[in-house]
Amino acid sequence: MPRWSVFSVLFSVSLTAASSGLNETKWLQCRAQAEKLCARLNITEKASIVTGSMTGLCIEYVAPVESIGFGGLCLQDGPAAIRLADLASVFPAGVTVAATWDREMMYERGTALAEEFKGKGAHVALGPVAGPLGRTPWGGRNWEGFSPDPFLTGVAMDHTIRAIQQVGVQANAKHIIGNEQETQRKPTTVDNETVESYSANIDDRTLHELYLWPFADAVHAGVASVTCAYNRVNLTSACENEHILTDILKGELGFDGYVVSDFFSSFSGIQAANAGLDMNQPGPISATDLNHSLWGSNLVTAVANGSLSEARLDDMVRRILTPYLYLGQNTDYPSIDSSSKYLFLEYFNMLYTQIATPVGRDVRSNHSALIRSIAAAGTVLLKNSNNALPLKSPRNIGVFGGDAADVSTGFFFPDAGFEIGTAAIGGGSGSGRLSSLVPPLDAIKARARRAGNSTVQYITNSTAIAAGVSGIYPWPDICLVFLKGWATEGADRASLEADYNSTLVVEKVAAVCRLPYTIAHNESDYGVSILNLTGSLAQDSDAWQLNFTEGQFIDYRHFDAKNITPLYEFGFGLSYTSFELTPNISISKVVVADPYPAPADNSSSLALGGNPNLWNTLVNCSSSVRNSGSVSGAAVVQLYVALPQTNVPPGTPIRVLRGFEKVPLQPGETKALSFSLTRRDLSYWDVVAQDWRIPRGEIQLSLGFSSKDLQYNTTVELLSIGDSF
Ligand SMILES: *[C@@H]1O[C@H](CO)[C@@H](O)[C@H](O)[C@H]1NC(C)=O
Ligand SMILES: *[C@@H]1O[C@H](CO)[C@@H](O)[C@H](O)[C@H]1NC(C)=O
Ligand SMILES: *[C@@H]1O[C@H](CO)[C@@H](O)[C@H](O)[C@H]1NC(C)=O
Ligand SMILES: *[C@@H]1O[C@H](CO)[C@@H](O)[C@H](O)[C@H]1NC(C)=O
Ligand SMILES: *[C@@H]1O[C@H](CO)[C@@H](O)[C@H](O)[C@H]1NC(C)=O
Ligand SMILES: *[C@@H]1O[C@H](CO)[C@@H](O)[C@H](O)[C@H]1NC(C)=O
Ligand SMILES: *[C@@H]1O[C@H](CO)[C@@H](O)[C@H](O)[C@H]1NC(C)=O
Ligand SMILES: *[C@@H]1O[C@H](CO)[C@@H](O)[C@H](O)[C@H]1NC(C)=O
Ligand SMILES: *[C@@H]1O[C@H](CO)[C@@H](O)[C@H](O)[C@H]1NC(C)=O
Ligand SMILES: *[C@@H]1O[C@H](CO)[C@@H](O)[C@H](O)[C@H]1NC(C)=O
Ligand SMILES: *[C@@H]1O[C@H](CO)[C@@H](O)[C@H](O)[C@H]1NC(C)=O
Ligand SMILES: *[C@@H]1O[C@H](CO)[C@@H](O)[C@H](O)[C@H]1NC(C)=O
Repeated sequence: MPRWSVFSVLFSVSLTAASSGLNETKWLQCRAQAEKLCARLNITEKASIVTGSMTGLCIEYVAPVESIGFGGLCLQDGPAAIRLADLASVFPAGVTVAATWDREMMYERGTALAEEFKGKGAHVALGPVAGPLGRTPWGGRNWEGFSPDPFLTGVAMDHTIRAIQQVGVQANAKHIIGNEQETQRKPTTVDNETVESYSANIDDRTLHELYLWPFADAVHAGVASVTCAYNRVNLTSACENEHILTDILKGELGFDGYVVSDFFSSFSGIQAANAGLDMNQPGPISATDLNHSLWGSNLVTAVANGSLSEARLDDMVRRILTPYLYLGQNTDYPSIDSSSKYLFLEYFNMLYTQIATPVGRDVRSNHSALIRSIAAAGTVLLKNSNNALPLKSPRNIGVFGGDAADVSTGFFFPDAGFEIGTAAIGGGSGSGRLSSLVPPLDAIKARARRAGNSTVQYITNSTAIAAGVSGIYPWPDICLVFLKGWATEGADRASLEADYNSTLVVEKVAAVCRLPYTIAHNESDYGVSILNLTGSLAQDSDAWQLNFTEGQFIDYRHFDAKNITPLYEFGFGLSYTSFELTPNISISKVVVADPYPAPADNSSSLALGGNPNLWNTLVNCSSSVRNSGSVSGAAVVQLYVALPQTNVPPGTPIRVLRGFEKVPLQPGETKALSFSLTRRDLSYWDVVAQDWRIPRGEIQLSLGFSSKDLQYNTTVELLSIGDSF
C-alpha cells in the first residue's frame, strides 16, 4: 500500500525563466560608454587601468585616470568581512551561511557586507567563494566557500552577488578553478629551481556539472569580476588558461566583466593577457619586488612590438570600466577610509615607525543582530540524547574547552591559530578584524547570573583537560564542551578531528558527566584526500598533479555511490520539533521536443550569463509541510533529482540536490512548498555535443529532510521523442 499519492498534471505550463541579474539594456549602454572612454586613453593609461598599483593602499588597487573621470578601484578582501578595516563586522563564514539553508539570510548577509565595503570606500568585495567547492574535507579554505554541493553553493553565490551589487559594490567570484587544496597551491623555489603549483586535472563533464556550476550561477547573477586561481589546471596556470578564461568563462558562460588575478597569481606577462586575464593584482612581480611589474609598462612595449594587440588591451579596459559605470561607482562613491591605508601598511610590514592609526568610519550599523541570527540559524543540531537540549535551568553548569573562552591573542587572528579563545573566523584573506566578541563562557555566565542561583565552573585549557579533569566540585549537572578546528588559507587540515586534543577532552569530560557525544573516526570514508608530496617528489613539478578521477563523486554523491553509511548525512539536522510532509507531490511539466536547449537568441550580440534557455523552468513541483510537534521550528525541505542511470553516461551521480526551502512553522501550522526545476537542473553535460542534454526516460524526484531521508518519490518524463543515448 503506497503511503502517498502523486497527482501528475500533464498539461504544458508556460515557459518561465529565472532572470539574469543584469539589466542587459543598461549593461550595453555602459559597455558603449566604456568603449568611448577607452578610445580617449593612450596606451600608457590603458596599461595603468589593467595593472594593480601600490599607491592606493587597498589590498589591491587601480590608480585613477582623471582625464576620463575614472576614480580608480579599491579592491578589498574578503568573503566574510572587509578584512583590513577597523570598526567593521565579521560575518559568519560561507559554510555557516550555507548551513542556514535560508535564501533570505544569504541575501541579507550580502547586503550588510556590501554596505560595509561601500562605507569604507571599497569598490570591489573579493568574494564570494565557489572554489574551493570542497572536493576533500581536508581543504584549508573550504569554510570560506559554502558547500561541496554545487547547487547549494550556486544558490548562495547567486543571492550573495545580487545583494552585493544591488548596494552598488562589485562582487568577485573566486577562485576559478580547481583550487581544491592549499598544499602547493603556489609555485615554490627549491635550490633555485621553480617547482610549479599543483595541476588540477579535471575532465570536461566534472568541470561542468560540479566545479563550474556555481560559477555559472555567479555569471548569471551578473557578477562584475572573477578571480583566477593560483593553481594550474590541466598543466596550465589558471590565470594563463585560455580554455578556462576565454572559451568557457567568457564564451560559454557569457561573462562580460573582468578576470583579475589572485594575489600575485599571474606568473607571466603577455601570455596571461592573451589567455584572457584582464587585470593583474596587486601589480608588482612579487612581495619582495614591489617596484616592478610583469604588466604596466611591459604591456606598452608588448603592444609596440606586436605581441599583444591593442584590441585585446581595449577589451581588458572595457571589461573593467563597464561594471564600474553600471554600478554607478563613477559618481559620489565614498572615499577610501583612512584607516584602511594604515592597516594596509601594517599588513605589508611597511609601518617602519609607530604611527598612530586614525580611527576609521564605523560601518557596523546594526549588523550584529543579523550576524547573531545567521550564526544561530547555521548551527546544526546533530544529536540530542535524552532530550538534553534545550537546557532546563540547570543549577550547576560545567564549561570545558578552549573555544568557550575569550580570545587571548587579539582580535585580528593569527594565521597559525590559537589554543584558548573562540575561533569566530578562520585565517588568511577570508578573515576579519573583530571589534567585539561574546565568547560562549561569557554568555553562559551572564545567563546564570540572571537566573540568580546557578554556578558555572569551567576549564578552558584543553591541554590541562586532556591530562585529566580536576579542580571541579561538585560535579556539574550538565557539561558543555566547546571544541574548535582551526583552518586558514595557505594550509590544509592535517586531521578532520577538532584541534587541541579534542577527542581526549571529550573523553575526559564524558567520564565525569557521561556526556552524549561521538566523533567520527573513519576519515578514509571520504575518499579524496590532499596530495602532499615529500622528498624528491615534492621538487618535481610533474608530480604535483591532482587527478580528479573521482569525477563527480565527492561528498554525499560519493557516499551514495559507494553505499557508505555516513554518521551524519548531507542535509541532516535535528530540531526541537518534528515535521511532516504532506503525502502529495503535485507536478506540472513541459514536455520538450529537443534534448538540447535552443541556442541563445541571436538578435542580441551577447549572451550575457550564458544561454538563457538553460534557465527555463520545465517542472514545477509542489507539496506542503506541517509542524507536527509542540514548539515552533523551521523545516528544511530538500528536493533531489535522479537521472535514469540506464540513459545517461557512466559517472552520473545517483541523485543530486536541485531544490530546497526553509519553512518556519508554528506548532500545527502547514505551509505550501513549491520548487521550480530548470532545464539545467534536469540535464547532464554531453561532452560530445558540448551542451546540456535532457535524458530520455523517467527522472525521479524525491522530497525529504536530508539526502538519506527521502520521504516521497515521483517521476517525470520530459523527452517524448525517441532520443537514444
Ligand atoms: C534597464 O535599464 C534601462 C536603461 O538604463 C532602463 O531604462 C530600464 O528601466 C531598466 N529596466 C529595469 C527592469 O530596471
Ligand atoms: C599618456 O597620457 C598621460 C596623461 O594621462 C601623459 O602623461 C603621457 O605622457 C601620455 N603618454 C603618451 C605616450 O602619450
Ligand atoms: C641560488 O642562486 C643564488 C644567486 O644566484 C646563489 O648565490 C646560490 O648559491 C644559489 N643556490 C643554490 C643552492 O644553487
Ligand atoms: C583537461 O584535459 C582533458 C583531456 O584532454 C579534457 O578532456 C578536459 O576538458 C580538460 N579540462 C579542462 C578543465 O580544461
Ligand atoms: C622602490 O621604489 C621606492 C619609491 O620610488 C623606493 O623608495 C624604494 O627604494 C624602491 N625599492 C627598491 C627595492 O628598489
Ligand atoms: C615584446 O614585449 C614584451 C614585453 O616587454 C616581451 O615580453 C616580449 O618578449 C617582446 N616580444 C618581442 C617579440 O620582442
Ligand atoms: C533556583 O533555581 C531553581 C531551579 O531553576 C528555581 O526553581 C528556583 O526558583 C531558583 N531560586 C531562586 C532564588 O532564584
Ligand atoms: C595549560 O595547561 C598545561 C598543562 O597543565 C600547561 O602546561 C600550560 O601552561 C597551560 N596553558 C596555559 C595558557 O595556561
Ligand atoms: C595535546 O596535543 C599536543 C599537540 O597538539 C600534544 O603535544 C600533547 O601531548 C597533547 N596532550 C595530551 C595530554 O595528549
Ligand atoms: C604535508 O606534509 C608536510 C611535511 O611532511 C607536513 O608538515 C604537513 O602537515 C602536511 N600537510 C597536511 C595537510 O597533511
Ligand atoms: C595524474 O595523471 C598523470 C597523467 O596521467 C600522471 O602522470 C600522474 O602520475 C598522475 N598523478 C597522480 C598523483 O596520480
Ligand atoms: C524514495 O527513493 C529512495 C531512493 O530510491 C528510497 O531510499 C526511499 O525509500 C524512497 N521513499 C519511499 C517513500 O518510497
